[in-house]
Amino acid sequence: MRSIQILMKEHQVILNVLDALEEFTQQLEANHRPVLADLDRFAYFFQQYADKYHHAKEEDHLFAEMVKAGFPGEQGPIGAMLVEHEEGRRLVARMQAASSFEHPLEQAKLDRLVQDLTVFVELLRGHIYKEDQILYPMALNAVDDSALAAMENEFDHQEKVAQGNGQLEAMTKSAETLMNRYVAVNS
Ligand SMILES: [Fe+2]
Ligand SMILES: [Fe+2]
Repeated sequence: MRSIQILMKEHQVILNVLDALEEFTQQLEANHRPVLADLDRFAYFFQQYADKYHHAKEEDHLFAEMVKAGFPGEQGPIGAMLVEHEEGRRLVARMQAASSFEHPLEQAKLDRLVQDLTVFVELLRGHIYKEDQILYPMALNAVDDSALAAMENEFDHQEKVAQGNGQLEAMTKSAETLMNRYVAVNS
């Protein structure tokens, strides 16, 4: 169903920006002094696109439909995904705070930041893998076609709203800027 394909397409955008963040982290670790203010751009993307745009679709619609189909809402696979969304929010808040740090960073601060960013990249990649491979196929099996179709309409509507108010363009631009800055140079 296209509702799930929409979510999987969003995963791809998020994975691309995670590649950029991984490169940013490697530059930081190698002391190449990437622009720390870019962390604000990364935080913006992960807050607005990955969380408010994508995770909200999962939490408010997909997971809600799975609960209606009999899945536990706070335990099991949905509970595990919710815990990871929450953990991601905590790490993105730290990412945002680090955007105002100045070079040169004290070693302890640098180590902590590299650790946070590394954990975040791994967390979100693993999260997306589990959703694509396990949770979404479970949802396709359990949620009935009419609910999936309603979800598709809702996601299309949300996309139109985000297009109309310029948010989608701003989020896409931030992703492109980060990828051009940190991924294109390596490929
Ligand atoms: Fe998720
Ligand atoms: Fe997801």
